[in-house]
Amino acid sequence: MSKIIHVVGARPNFMKIAPVIEAINASAARKGRSVTQILVHTGQHYTPEMSSLMFEQLGLPTPDYNLDVGSGGHGQQTGRIMEAFEQVLLKEQPDLVVVVGDVNSTIACALDAKKMNIPVAHIEAGLRSFDREMPEEINRILTDAISDYLFTTEESARMNLVGEGIDGGKIFFVGNTMIDTLLKHKDAAKSRPILKQLNLIDGNHNTQAYGLVTLHRPSNVDKVEPLKELLSCLAELSKDLPLVMPIHPRTKANIEKFNLMHLIESGNFLLIEPQGYLDFICLLSNAKLILSDSGGIQEEATVLGVPCLTLRENTERPITISEGTNTLVGNNPNAIVKAFNSALTKDFSEKRPKYWDGSAAQRIAEILLTHLA
Ligand code: UD1
Repeated sequence: MSKIIHVVGARPNFMKIAPVIEAINASAARKGRSVTQILVHTGQHYTPEMSSLMFEQLGLPTPDYNLDVGSGGHGQQTGRIMEAFEQVLLKEQPDLVVVVGDVNSTIACALDAKKMNIPVAHIEAGLRSFDREMPEEINRILTDAISDYLFTTEESARMNLVGEGIDGGKIFFVGNTMIDTLLKHKDAAKSRPILKQLNLIDGNHNTQAYGLVTLHRPSNVDKVEPLKELLSCLAELSKDLPLVMPIHPRTKANIEKFNLMHLIESGNFLLIEPQGYLDFICLLSNAKLILSDSGGIQEEATVLGVPCLTLRENTERPITISEGTNTLVGNNPNAIVKAFNSALTKDFSEKRPKYWDGSAAQRIAEILLTHLA
């Protein structure tokens, strides 16, 4: 009998873990193995749109533990998670802890587990932006340094890990579990009524052309100047193509704090609350393009064939540029306008980098069950 604890904390974690739990259950049943899976939600994200709605739509089991840590500074949030997760580990004594992505919950729980000599598997290992001012980059480097199983989504990740001195035997190129989830749900997502609800479909059933915007990186939204410059530029672009913007709580709070609402009002924006997974994928699939500073959206846009202008100077997901639909535009208005105009005139098609085939979680399950035997 083996016991695995899976950790999720923030919105981008949920779609990465859902297929893994399912694949381990299926693989254990096929092999006649007894595996107990425990789901721990740290509570880093907690509002319904950022959390429980995603659980429902992805068919994730109700967490066995919710640590309810909530928001806070990096030290405070990471510390609270470590303190609470340690108690779960003491009680459950698992054989393995699985963490995903690069959020504070990822490093906090990996660190707890390793200090108790519990093996750690990191899904989405090895991605590097080489920008140590990004809190996620620190989380990635540290989590990878102490993990025992490093599951990678693209080939660049192995080079990054080996370059940091990590034993190649621990690295497994398995593909992308977030794309497993996308491929499973994309048809259901496309038939959601969200476009109609937002009046983006006219009387002749034609979808109105629109762009989609998501913005939440601290480097873009936590200081007044970059946020002001970005919103001014987006307001200008929205006069050519209306922009739908599901607004992240961090960004909303800062627009209010810096008194920048007039920039939104000066453009053609449709400001909406953060969306559940299916509605967001529906909005993304139907958009002419997306402007975003998210990590995962670069990958989803590639698979859906939607041009993605990444409002950052770097990406930890280079394959979305070399093989996908992604262009880095930073927050320079001239670069954004140029890439925007070019994206609207080019044809893009759906792209599937190696192993982004819907079976990444299955590969992970096979490897983990073999090693746990
Ligand atoms: C976190 C992750 C980031 C990820 C992002 C996705 C880290 C370091 N950052 O950033 O990598 O891309 O999640 O959203 O782990 N809030 C709510 N409801 C919630 C959660 C947060 O209203 O459910 C508000 C709080 O006021 C909080 C702010 O949003 O202060 C930011 O949340 P936080 O988890 O600190 O960081 P994110 O910017 O979401």
